[in-house]
Amino acid sequence: MRRKKHLAHNRSPLPLPDPSARRWFRSKLLAWYDAHGRDLPWRKTSDPYHILVSEVMLQQTQVDRVLPKYLRWIERYPSFSDLAAAPEEEVVREWYPLGYNIRPRRLHSIAREAVGQYSGQLPEDEETLKSFKGIGPYTAGAIRSFAFGKRAAILDTNVARVLFRVFVGRGNPKDHAIRRHLWKLSAALVPARRAFDFNQALMDIGAMVCVARRPRCLVCPLARRCCSFPFNPEKEE
Ligand code: ADE
Repeated sequence: MRRKKHLAHNRSPLPLPDPSARRWFRSKLLAWYDAHGRDLPWRKTSDPYHILVSEVMLQQTQVDRVLPKYLRWIERYPSFSDLAAAPEEEVVREWYPLGYNIRPRRLHSIAREAVGQYSGQLPEDEETLKSFKGIGPYTAGAIRSFAFGKRAAILDTNVARVLFRVFVGRGNPKDHAIRRHLWKLSAALVPARRAFDFNQALMDIGAMVCVARRPRCLVCPLARRCCSFPFNPEKEE
């Protein structure tokens, strides 16, 4: 009985890469990023407020649409206290034309909480970050690695696709068990040094090479050990 249950839960055991495979992945990805990574303004800062603004904007909007709005936003509201002092309806107007009006309201409420409870800063601790409305596991990981240099994992759609293809390659990436495994993979892979670059690199390779349709495997630095290479689109649908 016990054995049966055990088998049912582990129909496809998903192993984590061993230390040498982790080292290989990190070094290939970082070398690729050094040569091909995008030069984006939120990559030149570790200001938690700037990181938060960029990540909230990027949650539902493409990089090229975010770029001009991000730069203007930072000029208009350079800090949490500037944003917190502005009326909410003005902040929502400033957000236009980025859609999803819940985002500026959430950003504004985070700014007010940061000013009211954390002296205009963001806390570093994961659980406290996640207690803010609008900061989920992804955004908490992004803030911890980009603003505080922590060895924190991230998992958004692009990163999940890359890790799934390279290390899993079978099953449904939306399945809860696989999703949990992808978080574990992301955490196992992020290096202590260069956590910032590593996480940005994961996003870039997902946006530029390991794209959803027609991934560019022939120029991918990870293809040699990728579970999904040679890529067969029918296997993913
Ligand atoms: N999408 C979400 N976060 C991003 C980032 N920091 N850089 C590029 N694209 C992103």
